[in-house]
Amino acid sequence: MARQILLEHISEPGIDTFEVYRKKGGYSAVEKALKTMSPEQVVEEVKTSGLRGRGGAGFPTGMKWSFLAKPEGVPRYLVCNADESEPGTFKDRYLMTRKPHILIEGMIVSSYALGANTSYIYVRGEMMPQIRILERAIAEAKANGFLGKNILGSGYDLEIYVHPGGGAYICGEETALLESLEGKRGNPRIKPPFPAVAGLYNRPTVVNNVESIAATVPIINDGGAEYAKLGIGRSTGTKLISAGGNVAKPGVYEIELGLPVEEFIYSDEYCGGIANGKRLKAVVAGGSSVPILPANLILKTIEGEARLMSYESLAEGGFQSGTMMGSGGFIAFDEDQCIVRNTWNFTRFYHHESCGQCSPCREGTGWMDKVLYNIEHGLGKYSDIDLLVNVAKNIEGNTICPLGDAAAWPVASAIRHFRDEFEWHVSNPDESMTRNFGLAHYADELSPVVKD
Ligand SMILES: Cc1cc2nc3c(=O)[nH]c(=O)nc-3n(C[C@H](O)[C@H](O)[C@H](O)COP(=O)(O)O)c2cc1C
Ligand code: SF4
Repeated sequence: MARQILLEHISEPGIDTFEVYRKKGGYSAVEKALKTMSPEQVVEEVKTSGLRGRGGAGFPTGMKWSFLAKPEGVPRYLVCNADESEPGTFKDRYLMTRKPHILIEGMIVSSYALGANTSYIYVRGEMMPQIRILERAIAEAKANGFLGKNILGSGYDLEIYVHPGGGAYICGEETALLESLEGKRGNPRIKPPFPAVAGLYNRPTVVNNVESIAATVPIINDGGAEYAKLGIGRSTGTKLISAGGNVAKPGVYEIELGLPVEEFIYSDEYCGGIANGKRLKAVVAGGSSVPILPANLILKTIEGEARLMSYESLAEGGFQSGTMMGSGGFIAFDEDQCIVRNTWNFTRFYHHESCGQCSPCREGTGWMDKVLYNIEHGLGKYSDIDLLVNVAKNIEGNTICPLGDAAAWPVASAIRHFRDEFEWHVSNPDESMTRNFGLAHYADELSPVVKD
């Protein structure tokens, strides 16, 4: 059994309560940090751990913390990003539901390190059960002296508030989240200034993902150097992966970074293979925003090396033949799935969720949505395929926030690796919506990939 750090004791009855969590050693990181460490030492420990943000971008957490403008007096804020709206991603809600106190404990340790006396957990508005669970956990922590004034007699004060999100995917983008938290429409801000300089209410702010904040608990308990021993290279520690699509055993798994993708998909300890004995066709490894890869390229790099679940290995080959770790939303497609239909589905989502501030994103997502609709419904032309590539290229890198890239990459990568399916739809309009796609790209029929 792989080492469980964040999910340790996850099946213990009552682990969502303060009493059981505490009995299992919970809140010892708060005790250690507040009683024996300075805030700077906590920051150093997180830097040593090599922890990288688990919300999608993989930016080193300790480095992000050290960018926070030096306090010229409070307030400064920690905001936990619990919006989790990326299609295919459901790890944060699982952790918050089953083990909410690890997030509260991580919030206390992280807020202490950053010198924040007020912190927020911005939870996706639709997740009412999780909002209630977190509010109960905060009340329990406060009743037991871990929140409020003079925590454990250390002189440090902290209040944590749960804020229901605005109900839009874009509210997960950190600056849109801050706008929304301030009571405004969740439109991304132009950066700079970055939140570390001017964030919530124009004050220095760190926004971190649920899993990043929770990971500070084992880092403080065991030390950053111990945490850094787990994983591979610059991908240290463990990562929560939410596995879905056509895997035999969908669910949330904690993996040590560096696990071979093949083992993750086929081992009984994790996904247990592809459901109903079907063959793997493609994988979206890190939530809907990352490039899709055909089975051959998710299992092996173009050089024939085993592909690993790490930031570097998944990205090996760049966008020609690689992808990204993203938010850890791992979606497997079996041999019957239609890539065109899926690409249209993702694109409809981005079109709907574009906030509309930038023309390339606002117009481009709509354009791609319409063209993909046509191809999927047997109304497409061959020239539409290159048109899609062109529109995607013109969105990428030309927008205020990364939602534009997130909309462009699935389309560009689907055409890069599965152009034959797009062409098939154009040349077979009558069967366009009904046919299953057992064409190529299976794990056991490694299709050649052109390197350009
Ligand atoms: C459209 C969009 C949606 C996002 N949604 C989330 C989200 O739900 N949760 C999250 O942690 N990060 C999300 N992010 C990334 C955040 O902007 C930010 O990078 C992250 O919260 C930083 O935390 P980390 O450094 O701990 O990963 C999103 C980004 C974009 C562009
Ligand atoms: S890229 Fe899209 S979602 Fe992001 S700011 Fe521009 S229009 Fe809004």
